[in-house]
This record gives sequence, structure tokens and C-alpha cells, in this order.
Amino acid sequence: MSADSFSLDLPRRPRRWRRSERMRGLAAETGLELRRLVQGHFVLPGEGRSEEIATLPGVSRHSADRLVSAVELDLARGVAAVMLFGVPENKDDLGSGAHDQNGEVAQAVRALRSAFGDDLLVMVDVCLCPYTSHGHCGFVAGEEIVNDESVGALARMAEVLAAAGADFVCPSDMMDGRIGAIRERLDDAGHTSTSILAYTAKYASAFYGPFRDAAGSAPSFGDRRSYQMDWRNRREAMRELELDLDEGADMVMVKPALAYLDIIRDFAEASPVPVCAYNVSGEYALVKAAAREGLADERALTLETLGAIHRAGADCIITYHASDLARQGWLG
Ligand code: PBG
Repeated sequence: MSADSFSLDLPRRPRRWRRSERMRGLAAETGLELRRLVQGHFVLPGEGRSEEIATLPGVSRHSADRLVSAVELDLARGVAAVMLFGVPENKDDLGSGAHDQNGEVAQAVRALRSAFGDDLLVMVDVCLCPYTSHGHCGFVAGEEIVNDESVGALARMAEVLAAAGADFVCPSDMMDGRIGAIRERLDDAGHTSTSILAYTAKYASAFYGPFRDAAGSAPSFGDRRSYQMDWRNRREAMRELELDLDEGADMVMVKPALAYLDIIRDFAEASPVPVCAYNVSGEYALVKAAAREGLADERALTLETLGAIHRAGADCIITYHASDLARQGWLG
């Protein structure tokens, strides 16, 4: 049978919509835009310091002054939001560096604010793990991670970073009741305009490996499964969502993103506040490794990955790809 000898009497042909780039572009249901992306950054103490991160190719740790230069380039290209993580030199049992007004993140927030004013949105991770000698996200008693005292320390950290000028404080510790406690502490201190982005459904995940190396925050004993969520669970995320909304979260997050698109969709359908997804370090590192090995085209893989996270229902995405996308002009 030759190729042209057969035709169907088909009244419906979905392929008409796929005929050309113009046709596809006219009515594509979703489209990724730079304005939705938040670039993750690691902040060092001191001045004039930049270090490459072996596990996160293309991402560096910077001291505040160097960070300002890096962000300036991104901002000129359209990446207008950052999420900051501290990489402190000193750690102790109680993570006291977390609420030091002159800590590296507080300094970086002030430097970014004075350089860019309201042109840049500054988000800060609020967690004790980079600051504690044991590497857990809360205080430790024996081998147990205690909840309520940890929440007090996190609220204190959030207040310091709000005072430095952060737009969003973003608790990633997964202690119970921290959103309400942080809201109350911010309001009492007059920071009523500071928003809270809650890491609402943060799963205990193998995808955080490269981050822990980048931030030096791997736990020295045990793991994080007594506070981060079990990846077998979906309903449990809805319970966390209800609580965080009730406690006053301005935005809710699902983390990681790619293996959790069902949770992102659940949140998009149920949440009255915007939904953020965190495209985490391990997801980034996999894309970079595949590209390096010639297994996939980096541009296509990155756009499909982030585009699918957006399609699943994420209004904004924290990712390490944002600077790259902007620099290469991959979003047009
Ligand atoms: C701190 C924190 C982690 C990440 C963000 N905040 C690590 C962890 O929970 O161990 C992971 C981010 C990433 O992998 O990119 N609690």
C-alpha cells in the first residue's frame, strides 16, 4: 500500500492545532515567563568571595557584595526575585547565628535592598540547619528534634530578616505551628507588610543532596523524617495546607517539584493563596548531568521541566535555572 492510497473520513482532527509554530503558539494553554521564576542563591560571610559549587554546576556561593553584582546582571535580564540561603562559618548547638543581625543573610538583604530598592523581590529561607552544629532544622534533645522551642528561634530569625528588609520570610523547617508564631512575632514588631511563604508540603527527599553540600547543612545524625513529610502521602499535604492557611501563610509551597506534580495540582485547586513550587537542587543537578553527558538537550529539558511544573499549577517557581534561562535568552 502506498502512502497516499488511504484516507479516513475524519470529522475531528486535533492535529490541525499542531500544524505550525504559529498555530501552536496562538492557543497554547500555559506559557512560562521569567517573572514567575525565583533564583536561589547561597550567601557567604565576608567580602569579595565567590566559590563555585561542585554539586551545582553553574551556581556559586557569594559574599553580599558579589551577590549584588550577580543579581544586578540577572535583574537587567528580567529575573527579579531571589531566594537566599546562608552558608555561615560558625555553627553551634542552638544555631544562634540564625538570628544574628549582622549575619551573612541579614547583610545580604540590606545590600540588595539598598542597591535595587523595590525592583527586586527578596525571599529568605528561615531554618536553623545551616547554623546548628548537628545540622538539624530545630533544637535537639538527645536524638529528638523538639518542636516548640525551635519555633521560638525560627520566629526570632524571621523577625531579624524582616527588619533587614526581606519581602518574604520562608520557613523551611516543617515544625508544627511556625507560621502562626512567625506571623504573630512579625506583627508585634510592626512588620505587617512582610509576607510569609510557607514550605507547606516539604517532603523528606533524596533530591536535596546537592543543596546540603552547597549549604553545608547535612544532619550529623539520623535524617529529617521526623519533621519533613513522607513521600508516600498525598492527603497529609492537604492537612498541612489547611493549617498553614489558617495560621496566615501568604503563599504555600510544594517541595520538591518534579516528582510531586500531583501535590502541586491539589494545591492549585484547593488554595486561595498563590502556590509556589521548589525545583530543588537534585532536580537541577540531574538536568545538568544529562546535558553534560549528551543525553538530552539542556534548553529543551529545562523548559519542559519548568513548564510542566507551571502547568501542574505552580504560580511561581524557585529554581537554580533562572539565571541561565535569562542569560541564554531561552524564554525569548
Ligand atoms: C533547609 C532547606 C533545604 C532545602 C531548602 N531549605 C535542605 C533540607 O531540608 O535538607 C533544599 C533545597 C534544595 O535541595 O535545592 N531546611
